[in-house]
Amino acid sequence: MVDNYNENYHTPVVHPVLGSILDESYRIEPKGKYLSHVGDASPGIEGGFQVEGANFPQLLTWWLWPNLCPMSIPGGGFRVLHIMPDGPERTRETYDFYLPYAEPTEAQWRQIRFAAEVVNVEDVSVAEGIQRGLHSKSFDRSYVMIAPENAEWSEHAVSHLKNLVLEALYGQS
Ligand SMILES: [Fe+2]
Repeated sequence: MVDNYNENYHTPVVHPVLGSILDESYRIEPKGKYLSHVGDASPGIEGGFQVEGANFPQLLTWWLWPNLCPMSIPGGGFRVLHIMPDGPERTRETYDFYLPYAEPTEAQWRQIRFAAEVVNVEDVSVAEGIQRGLHSKSFDRSYVMIAPENAEWSEHAVSHLKNLVLEALYGQS
């Protein structure tokens, strides 16, 4: 789940609505113990990124070592995805929403449901498919694609977090 969160080339295929609001400016930048995700966003796209009277020029999210993902919410507030190991082949996730209003409007509820019931479900489906693939007889090893200038299809951020894991386990990367 953490690998998936920190690469963006799956977005247009796995998340068609989310992918429709991001353009090629989306970048994931390693910053030591965290990764910064920044991308221009188009407002007013059906699926949860429309709030009356607000303008959302960018989507801002982060991954914090080892498993916490705060994400800004267009219109105010943020949500936090917590990815926790739950056994050798199991992961448990929680989504917490921190909102600057007492009661979400219908548009804000749409944002919340879009994150939890659409984007997250799409990612879980990918992760489950990867787990099945790891058990296939044809799987030997995986490769990391790294593109110049951290292009949107690059896995440089995945490589960065794997180096952090190696460093934590063995004191080196
Ligand atoms: Fe995803």
